[in-house]
Amino acid sequence: MPTALVTGATSGIGTAIALALASAGYEVTAVGRNRDALAQIGAQPFITGLCLDLTDRERLHSAISGLDVDVLVNNAGIMPPLQNFCEAKPEDIDAAFAVNVTSAIELTRLVAPKMRRRGDGHIFFTGSIAGHSPFRNLAVYCATKAAIGGFAQALRLDLAESGIRVTEIVAGRVETGLYNAIVSREAREAMYAGGTAVQPRDVGAMVLAILGLPSSVDVSRFDILPVRQPTATEVSRKG
Ligand SMILES: NC(=O)c1ccc[n+]([C@@H]2O[C@H](COP(=O)([O-])OP(=O)(O)OC[C@H]3O[C@@H](n4cnc5c(N)ncnc54)[C@H](OP(=O)(O)O)[C@@H]3O)[C@@H](O)[C@H]2O)c1
Repeated sequence: MPTALVTGATSGIGTAIALALASAGYEVTAVGRNRDALAQIGAQPFITGLCLDLTDRERLHSAISGLDVDVLVNNAGIMPPLQNFCEAKPEDIDAAFAVNVTSAIELTRLVAPKMRRRGDGHIFFTGSIAGHSPFRNLAVYCATKAAIGGFAQALRLDLAESGIRVTEIVAGRVETGLYNAIVSREAREAMYAGGTAVQPRDVGAMVLAILGLPSSVDVSRFDILPVRQPTATEVSRKG
């Protein structure tokens, strides 16, 4: 049975990707910190929950070094407070880079050499349109997503000769819990109203479609946006 490791699998896009992979016959390790959500997803067939703070390097090493997976999905991410950069707190900047960039690179460093020895594997990164277009009040988030996009594209070149595929998921607005801690419920409802968000399961379906392509084909990145968000910054509503 092929195996997969998905980070950020306790919510949103990661949950959907983990479920999609399990339904396609992968044995999935689902990573997150929220124990209730881990118990829920771990109760699904072919999914095992792994409680892990990805920024805890020591725990990351001990939990992952024994694992050998066919598919790695570096998906966990956080959004720092929406504010003018002049008001940003150093601890929020550090936390965003620790989760969105450093932990994904470190996890890849633990997993990719084994893929290279085997001569196959697929590594996904959940990037963002924020890594490719500027957004007001999101300078740090944009910087983390630009960093992970750059890493993914360059990593692809290092791994191509070994037959390993690398894909950057360039997501537009997806209806998840990403803004829960930083935006009011009313504002989130307005953000997602009128078909202006992709659903997490749509991203899961794309991951499966890409994995189903011949192993000689690499989708180096794909952009997935709501039809009503035709560009990074333009959103049109129904009615
Ligand atoms: N939603 C969007 O519109 C959108 C658009 C573009 C890109 N993205 C990207 O998509 C990815 C998934 O986000 P989402 O939208 O699905 O948001 P979400 O529902 O908030 O999920 C975020 C996930 O990251 C995990 N996580 C955060 N910090 C962690 C840590 N220190 N250690 C381990 N896990 C951690 C969370 O798990 P625990 O809480 O259990 O730790 C959770 O499972 C992120 O990289 C995000 O930047 C989202």
